[in-house]
Amino acid sequence: MPLARQEWLDLARDVDWDFTYVREEEVFPEDVSGRPWLRGAEWRDWSEPFQTTYSEYVRGQAAKEQALAGVRDALGGAVERRKLPRAWTNGVKLHAATFALAEFAAVVGNLRAARFGRSPAWRTTATLGALDEIRHTQIPLLLLHDLVRWDRQFDWTHKFFHSNVWVAIAARHMVDELLVASDPVEFAIGTNFVFETGFTNLQFLGLAALGGQAGDRLFERMATSIQTDEARHAQIGLPVLEKLVAIDRGRAQYLVDKWFWRSWLFFAVVTGVAMDYLTPLERRTGSFKEFVEEWILDQFERTLASVGLERPWYWHRFVESIDWFHHMIYASAYSYRATVWFDMVLPGPDERAWLRRKYPSSWDALDPIWRRVAERWSAADPGVDFEVHGSAIVGFCSLCQLVLCQGTPEHNRAVTHEHGGRRYVFCSEPCRWIFQQEPQRYEKHLDLVQRVLAGQAPGNVVALLTRYCGLDEQTWGKDAFGGVYPWLERRTTNGAATPPADAPRGGMEARP
Ligand SMILES: [Fe+2]
Ligand SMILES: [Fe+2]
Ligand SMILES: [Zn+2]
Repeated sequence: MPLARQEWLDLARDVDWDFTYVREEEVFPEDVSGRPWLRGAEWRDWSEPFQTTYSEYVRGQAAKEQALAGVRDALGGAVERRKLPRAWTNGVKLHAATFALAEFAAVVGNLRAARFGRSPAWRTTATLGALDEIRHTQIPLLLLHDLVRWDRQFDWTHKFFHSNVWVAIAARHMVDELLVASDPVEFAIGTNFVFETGFTNLQFLGLAALGGQAGDRLFERMATSIQTDEARHAQIGLPVLEKLVAIDRGRAQYLVDKWFWRSWLFFAVVTGVAMDYLTPLERRTGSFKEFVEEWILDQFERTLASVGLERPWYWHRFVESIDWFHHMIYASAYSYRATVWFDMVLPGPDERAWLRRKYPSSWDALDPIWRRVAERWSAADPGVDFEVHGSAIVGFCSLCQLVLCQGTPEHNRAVTHEHGGRRYVFCSEPCRWIFQQEPQRYEKHLDLVQRVLAGQAPGNVVALLTRYCGLDEQTWGKDAFGGVYPWLERRTTNGAATPPADAPRGGMEARP
């Protein structure tokens, strides 16, 4: 008779041994295993809530893959994709580029924990986590590759992290530190606890549901299939955090504070923009702010209290930025859309009325930006994006590498700091604080403007975009409708000849 599951489970997932001819410090050096460094015996009680066995894992994953293959066959082609709202399709490009290879970086983080995590159960779960993240890399690469022939911007699913577009510089700055370079303790707090427990829900459940609403079943199924894995390996975070709080509460609080802010900026850019600007208005079930309040604010506060930690010291700044930051980022990105790999839309009167209702404390100050952009489009010819495009050089944060647009249009929250004879500029106090905790980690990094000044990147804008950022005229971002909207009155001489707003653009016709 075969053994019952509980009789062999611990033998399979939690076997450890003592070393006789090497010291434990040599097998698990502090640099790669993480600090505070504890004897293995002190980790022996470590355990994760769902204890998945390898055979359960393989069966579960095979079923998920099969379901996804069916969806791909039915809905994966360009013919199906062409029916989707254009704004939404561009939100998918933003998602695909920023996540696909970040998931691959997460393979590295999980594998390091699979070797250097301090408890055997932790190592076993991290091994399954690494397999998960390989899958999360391959799914978007496979599903969206079919679309490259239709629209070359989808090529950025693979290309993005290898490029020098400013969003990629920012994403790499975070992803390299969080997923590739961190030790298993920092990875468990930063990735498993902060990033994967709360924030990924915003994108992989919240945005996925909006995608389903918008008619994109493929995106919905792809994202939710991935999220079912996240829930399993995210569980590594809490038991590591609890151990860390007991041994070194200060370090636990520091890692939470640092990674909460960095994760927040990442998701504000990716999810905030996709939810409040690139999801068709009639399909929106809630604002980004409402999703954040539901899935981050309450849940995160409760979990922190339960392990005996405080809210991050900058909590008031975080709460304030929920009303502003992703709006400021979208306005900046739209104004410099040729510097990114996806197209953007101009929010019309209905969208702006919706945004005013959802963001009553900030929208009055943000609305004039869009009024001005609309006025400039009405004086420009359709499709002539550079007449409605920023030309002044923008500044970037020395920590997060995003545009310096924290705060409000009237009051920018940028702050400076002198270090090693160099002046650093930060978008916000939390970014400066993170830099000051470990300056040796960040001091040598150059942002895009500094690379131009150092002669590493061309100063001419077109050369910068084509030779340094990897974009070209077909792929750089444009207004998705060429500035032609039913509500926008055109005052140019050939305005009468403007195509209707639903004319295909961004498809094969427009991107030969
Ligand atoms: Fe993942
Ligand atoms: Fe993950
Ligand atoms: Zn910053």
